[in-house]
Amino acid sequence: MLMGHGDKLVRIAILKEVRSDENRVAMTPQICTQLKKMGHEILIEKGAGERANIPDSAYESAGAKICQESDLLGSGQIFVQINVPTQERIKKLPEKSVWVSLLYHRTEKACIETLNQKGISAFSLDAIPRISRAQSMDVLSSQANLAGYRAVIDGAALMDKIFPLLMTAAGTVSPSKVLIFGVGVAGLQAIATAKRLGAIVEATDVRPETKEQVQSLGGKFIEVTGASVGSEGGYAKEASSEYRAAQRSAVNKSLAQADLVITTALVPGKKAPVLIDQEQLGLMKKGAVVVDMAAEQGGNCHGTKPGEIIEINGVRIFGAMNLPSKLAANASELLARNLLEFFKLVSPKGEMVCDLKDEIIAGCLICHQGEIRHTGV
Ligand code: NAI
Repeated sequence: MLMGHGDKLVRIAILKEVRSDENRVAMTPQICTQLKKMGHEILIEKGAGERANIPDSAYESAGAKICQESDLLGSGQIFVQINVPTQERIKKLPEKSVWVSLLYHRTEKACIETLNQKGISAFSLDAIPRISRAQSMDVLSSQANLAGYRAVIDGAALMDKIFPLLMTAAGTVSPSKVLIFGVGVAGLQAIATAKRLGAIVEATDVRPETKEQVQSLGGKFIEVTGASVGSEGGYAKEASSEYRAAQRSAVNKSLAQADLVITTALVPGKKAPVLIDQEQLGLMKKGAVVVDMAAEQGGNCHGTKPGEIIEINGVRIFGAMNLPSKLAANASELLARNLLEFFKLVSPKGEMVCDLKDEIIAGCLICHQGEIRHTGV
């Protein structure tokens, strides 16, 4: 089924990110070449790749046209960026164009409404269903994977200890203990990274199926008995107060011994659950570090301040924000590849022909032809 625009939509316009802590870019020269082969024209905003160390000249060599923002907005048809667009940017978009980015539609209602008022067809990359066929276009996974790695590296840099067991003439140094809350994509990569660096790793999650995954990476799974939390579409549901109490008693011994704690727990559309409260922070060792990867969604740890490193009772808490941006080269490379796979689905021959009944498209096309389609809004 056609998108219903009556026009061939071939011009993909890549916008420069406006978020101040953003180094990534949604496109790489290599993927430009591939999209061009599919029949698309690629326009890219001047300087879009600068902070990811990709110069305009590299895009030009790949056949993309470098444009100032106003020209890009005037001649693009499909607009692509990474982050949720600002109201100011949406206002500049042409009516009935196509938008592709992360949109977090469950919480960004004003953004969706403004896009819809302009008749824009908006695809939300974070709403792509977590099914096998969509794995190659799963932006959340590709970025969370890198974020999990970076959380361990940032945590290590804040610690006053090393990870591995060290046997020296001056004596033996015991390995550090790392505790991970939430074993999704980021948590699994954090376990793997901390293990590779020689730490002793423990982890916990509300989804019991993660036990085997933790063990296969050489970690110890902390089981929470006596209460359970369901899941929906692979995502965790909100934990009950009964579960929270059981979790607290299951993890407190490990928390008291941990040198580094990484928290990754999220529940879609909800504020992040608090997994380390003030009292639990008091149990932790002085010098221990918490990297709170849920900082942007309210934080898993008491006191977390997004983007800041604070200290409570001698425990350093890092409210990690946009970790993939710190790895902009790899993050942009994977993101652009995810987008290529997405475009293979929605416009395989350089023309928007997407089946609205397709499970992936149905899941991530949030508004279309003046109608908000997604029940999450
Ligand atoms: P996420 O970022 O939404 O959450 C991180 C982790 O926190 C999850 O494992 C979740 O169970 C856990 N969590 C939530 N509340 C918690 C609490 N109160 N205490 C402890 N842990 C808590 O998760 P992510 O990484 O986005 O993965 C979500 C699901 O999608 C997983 O089931 C994952 O296996 C699945 N997935 C499927 C893919 C596919 O088949 N295409 C690709 C990637 C992920």
